[in-house]
This record gives sequence, C-alpha cells and structure tokens, in this order.
Amino acid sequence: MLDVGSGLGGPARYLAATLGCDVTGIDLSPEFCEVANVLSRMTRLSDRTRFQAGDALELPFAASSFDVVWTIQMQMNIRDKRRLYSGIARVLRPGGLFVCQEICAGNGEPIELPVPWASRPNQSHLADAESLRGLIRGAGLLERTWRDITADIVAARKAQQAKAQASGASGSSAPPPLGMHLVLGEQAAVKTSNSGRNTDAGRTVFIQGVFDKPV
Ligand SMILES: C[S@@+](CC[C@H](N)C(=O)[O-])C[C@H]1O[C@@H](n2cnc3c(N)ncnc32)[C@H](O)[C@@H]1O
Repeated sequence: MLDVGSGLGGPARYLAATLGCDVTGIDLSPEFCEVANVLSRMTRLSDRTRFQAGDALELPFAASSFDVVWTIQMQMNIRDKRRLYSGIARVLRPGGLFVCQEICAGNGEPIELPVPWASRPNQSHLADAESLRGLIRGAGLLERTWRDITADIVAARKAQQAKAQASGASGSSAPPPLGMHLVLGEQAAVKTSNSGRNTDAGRTVFIQGVFDKPV
C-alpha cells in the first residue's frame, strides 16, 4: 500500500506491525523520510516499510501499482486537490481502496493561526467536508463510507491531556523525550492549542472516508 504524506512513518509502521502490510511512504520532506527510514530500521520494520521523498502532486509510481492508498491529515497544505486525488486514483489498482482521515474547514470562520500545518493564512488550504468528498468522487472513486469523526478526535485529545496532567501532577513537568514538540519546534504549544481551539469552536472538523476504485 501507499501512504501519501507519510511524515515520520508512524501510521505505516503501525499497519506493518499489526496487520503485516507492506507500505511505501512518500513525503515532501526528505528529512522526515530519512527519520522514518531510521525509525523503521530501529523497530525492525524496514522489510515492510520504506519512505521516499516526493510530491503527492507528482506521484512517481506506475498506474495501478497499489492495492490501497491512504492519506492521514496531509492535504491541508495542498491547493490543487483535484490533481492530488486524480494522481491517487491513477496509482490505485482497479478494485483497490482509498482511505483517508483529513481535517476540513468547519463553520466557515477563519482558523486561529499558527496551527501544526500552517503559520500564515496562505499556507493553509482547508476545504469544507462536502467539497473534499466531491473532489474525491470526482476523481472516479466510489464512496463506501464517509463520516464525521470530530467527536472521537476531541475525546482522544482530552484523554491525552488528562494523562499528561496526571503525569505532571506526579512530579514530571518536562515534556516527554519523544513527541510532536520535536517536529513542531518552538511554537509547538501554541500550534497545538490553537488546533484544539479551532476544533472546539467548530472552525475545523475531522472526516474519515473509504472509497473503491471501480474494476
Ligand atoms: C500532519 S503531517 C501527517 C503525517 C502522517 N500522515 C501522520 O499521520 O503521521 C502532514 C504531512 O504531509 C506532508 N506533505 C504536505 N504536502 C505534501 C505534498 N505535496 N507531497 C507529499 N507530502 C506532503 C508533510 O511533509 C507532512 O509530513
């Protein structure tokens, strides 16, 4: 399968470790791919996961090369989403699945910045959920499921915050050695809290979709 916008490779390794999937990841950032490959070696998953630098708008794979293509929270920076989804449909084999979990614009109010994917308004290209759904269908993919998972995401974030607070109360105030703060840099805290506030205020929603490529 192909993970488009694979980041540090966590989802790919999870699929490889739990379901035995063979996953190729592609990401715009060569540094992320380098780290992803190191982490796969460290976790002995290099035989089933590999990461290469490249642009999701120019997927360097032959037509019909993958059984499954997946994206997790990767299209927020991409303006030309029509091109993104037509490329994904091209590399998917007939009968294959496209799976996505994405952030979309919610009530139309502008989002508070910075967020993890953008510091300035011209870096963020959020579509509303119905437009995104229409773009994916427009690439020739047939919808199997489409659901709003915002409530699940909010509940997971609150559980994570409660856990962090509990470990702070037990004496450790330093951030954990590994975490998103290493990737998001100095503004990690404000980016993360803006992201949560945007969702709580209805400015962003989360969707999950599964689509078939017709045979
Ligand atoms: C929020 S991260 C998600 C990473 C990964 N999917 C995960 O869930 O752990 C978004 C990723 O999309 C990548 N990305 C953004 N635009 C891209 C593009 N045009 N082509 C490939 N990757 C892109 C970024 O470099 C980043 O690693």
